[in-house]
Amino acid sequence: MLEVRGLRVSYGGLRAVDGVSLEVRAGEIVSIIGMNGAGKTSILNAVSGIRSPDEGEIRFEGESIGGLPAHAVVARGIVQVPEGRLLFGTLSVEENLLAGAHRRSPFVLRRRPRADLRRLFPALADKLHRPAASLSGGEAQMLALARGLESEPRLLLLDEPSLGLSPKLSEGVFTLIRRLRDRGLTLLLVEQNLRRTLALADRAYVLESGRIVSSGSAAALESDHRLLSDYLGTSAPAAFHSAK
Ligand SMILES: Nc1ncnc2c1ncn2[C@@H]1O[C@H](COP(=O)(O)OP(=O)(O)OP(=O)(O)O)[C@@H](O)[C@H]1O
Ligand SMILES: [Mg+2]
Repeated sequence: MLEVRGLRVSYGGLRAVDGVSLEVRAGEIVSIIGMNGAGKTSILNAVSGIRSPDEGEIRFEGESIGGLPAHAVVARGIVQVPEGRLLFGTLSVEENLLAGAHRRSPFVLRRRPRADLRRLFPALADKLHRPAASLSGGEAQMLALARGLESEPRLLLLDEPSLGLSPKLSEGVFTLIRRLRDRGLTLLLVEQNLRRTLALADRAYVLESGRIVSSGSAAALESDHRLLSDYLGTSAPAAFHSAK
């Protein structure tokens, strides 16, 4: 579904992504795991058209999308839920949702959020008229996800959806990700939470300083303690439990 070959992204002289190739097949949850500054967000930004790549090929469903502007990428069915959620705090939950619905109608906002909102996000459905700033961290993450779905993506790019959430709230987000996959969505998930991510993903790529240093099925990576201890610079069992 998504194919990235030889991707390079830089900021001035700094090369943040240095020749990354990866693939996401329809129906998969694929994860990019890496420490702060590894280049994870830069990869997602290149795929979603927020940042144009210096080099490399990005193909979605067989067609080249590298360098297309973000709105054109959304129109093809790829939606990114950004790191840090980027909600409009003073707008209501409902207004934030409608701001996400720009695929169907680029200029006219739809008047109602999707009908299945209540089923997927019961906590939000009761708070449609509250300001987004009043939501808890977990609810805000749910809203960011719900807003992404308003554009009816086929491929969802999620940037650290569990960041800053308690283990319990993270579990809620991960459960939701699983449900979305079960409903036919394909997901590329960026995370630092190693243990939970490998439990959720079908496959993962380990990114270090802009390069993929390992990849494979989540099960295979999960049992590769040497790799994980190298990559985290700490002993593997501790890394599994303390990864945030
Ligand atoms: N807009 C920018 N201008 C300059 N340098 C940037 C910019 N965005 C990212 N970088 C640099 O590029 C490298 C990769 O950053 P990126 O945000 O892709 O990493 P990340 O893996 O998403 O990190 P984190 O886990 O902290 O979100 C880092 O060294 C970062 O400082
Ligand atoms: Mg990031």
